[in-house]
Amino acid sequence: VIVEPIQAEGGVQVPKEEFLLALRRRCDEVGALLLFDEVQTGFGRTGKLFAFEHWGVVPDVLCLAKALGGGMPLGAFVSRPEVMHTLAVNPPLSHVTTFGGHPVCCAAGLAGLRVLLRERLPERAALLGQRLLEALRELPGRGIREVRGKGLLVGIEFENETLAQAFVRNCLKHRLIVGVTLHIPAVVRLAPPLSLTQEELEEGLHRLRRAWQETV
Ligand SMILES: Cc1ncc(COP(=O)(O)O)c(C=O)c1O
Repeated sequence: VIVEPIQAEGGVQVPKEEFLLALRRRCDEVGALLLFDEVQTGFGRTGKLFAFEHWGVVPDVLCLAKALGGGMPLGAFVSRPEVMHTLAVNPPLSHVTTFGGHPVCCAAGLAGLRVLLRERLPERAALLGQRLLEALRELPGRGIREVRGKGLLVGIEFENETLAQAFVRNCLKHRLIVGVTLHIPAVVRLAPPLSLTQEELEEGLHRLRRAWQETV
């Protein structure tokens, strides 16, 4: 069973409190492996180092990429020794990839992780994300169906796709690059860098408000 703890391109969908726990329980009952894709949600994006920590549900396999490489191309498949062993022997080396584990990318990833932890970027994402959510929820309801997310992964669901696209264009006019989610085009996804400062967030909010006023 493969899920993202919070769906990103699926429209920034935060699961109900009990969902991942129930999924874990069901996988254990039937003997299925539970895989979490934390390619977008990992490395502090949602306010914890990994999103699964919000629910205390531990997957059998964790898929990582993007921020893992600190800007360099790197992906990883993390699991306990028994699971990794099955990949190593049958067929042998079945998870080998052409660019996997390049030493330069690994060094960049390690350096990035050190900065992330030293500068407490997950905590910063939690704090600034809360401010972002609250400020966006203050926008009067017109044109917007819902604002949701965790940490610095936030989705603004518009009443329709046309409004979302107009909002994206208006943001660009104010030199703010945002985009709609791949599978739910009525949702605009905000995922600013975790190094965002409070002042940059306020400036971004100012531009988002102006873009919204021009849209609805
Ligand atoms: C959650 C998630 N998983 C996996 C991927 C796919 O990564 P790749 O482009 O390396 O196939 C993406 C790409 O954006 C993603 O957002």
